[in-house]
Amino acid sequence: MTNHQVTLEGGPPFSVRHGQTILDAALRANRWIPHNCSQGTCGTCRFRVTEGTVDHRDSAQDLLPADDRAAGFALACRSTPLTDLSGELLGEFANQAPRHRLRDIAGTVVVRDLVARDTIRLVIDLDEPLDFDAGQYVELQIPGSFTRRAYSIASPPSRPSEIELHIRLTPGGLATAGWIFASLAIGERMTMQGPLGSFALTEAQDGPVILVAGGTGLAPLKAMVLHALEHGLASELHVYHGGRREEDLYDGDVFRSLSEAGVRYVPVLSEQTWDGAQGMVTEAVEADFPSCRGMSAYICGPPPMVAAAVRTFKKRRMRPALIHREEFTPAPLPVSVPAGSLIAAERSAET
Ligand code: FES
Repeated sequence: MTNHQVTLEGGPPFSVRHGQTILDAALRANRWIPHNCSQGTCGTCRFRVTEGTVDHRDSAQDLLPADDRAAGFALACRSTPLTDLSGELLGEFANQAPRHRLRDIAGTVVVRDLVARDTIRLVIDLDEPLDFDAGQYVELQIPGSFTRRAYSIASPPSRPSEIELHIRLTPGGLATAGWIFASLAIGERMTMQGPLGSFALTEAQDGPVILVAGGTGLAPLKAMVLHALEHGLASELHVYHGGRREEDLYDGDVFRSLSEAGVRYVPVLSEQTWDGAQGMVTEAVEADFPSCRGMSAYICGPPPMVAAAVRTFKKRRMRPALIHREEFTPAPLPVSVPAGSLIAAERSAET
């Protein structure tokens, strides 16, 4: 099958194999395209084809209506070239993102602990070190299928030889109910690809940083906090972790042990009376910060919580460009593809 050459922003061309997505090929060639979900649901990877044609495949109509397609827009994580093509990246984030070459990696499970209700911590000892930015994710290959699931890395980039993942059970989920919670054992081999994602904390922050997590949305924020402390990137780090009940919380001891380094930890419960903060996690943030001017935020969790947090920070006068977010998105149905074909993996609610 024919390979096609793709040129973005006049940079060096990279080769895309038949059936491979433009995003996958670009990241493997160390060419950056901003992206988040890798499954065609967030729109971050939109780019404009200036010359040549693409197959949009299963790109969603609501993200890419017919008029946009006619105007040359495409989703890099869904589309594959039909000819050699040139394109331009869009938006202010085109040149601001982390850059580590996407690659396939393997490792061995060395820790598998139940750390909260329906939540497992995995530590995977990698065969080779993985360079990544704090906040990025990997996609685990589900054994016996062509489907992958995305999980944020909770350990800091300074520990590239092993990665920690926090995984919440999704009832009926292919990766969680069908594998990780059912049969996965210490010593088992895993294959994955990474790193992926534009959600990352890499640079010194001008003011205090507020990190808001729902459930296992804590994972990328933990990596960010540890990375920020190691490199002196922030003077104040305020970590809010929301759960329904106390048994949903975990790693509180980790964050409390960092209080002298400038980390303030606030667990928040929405369905249980206790002596800590109660209500929605965003209500706790609003109660603590009458103004967020001059601060930045990193938010990760279910879409309604992320949307509420964004509204809170805008209301509290935080600059929109300093509100960074990552949403869990619904796991798509498993896809079946012929062996050897490359389809962008599925970012999932099984995070
Ligand atoms: S739509 Fe392509 S990365 Fe989200």
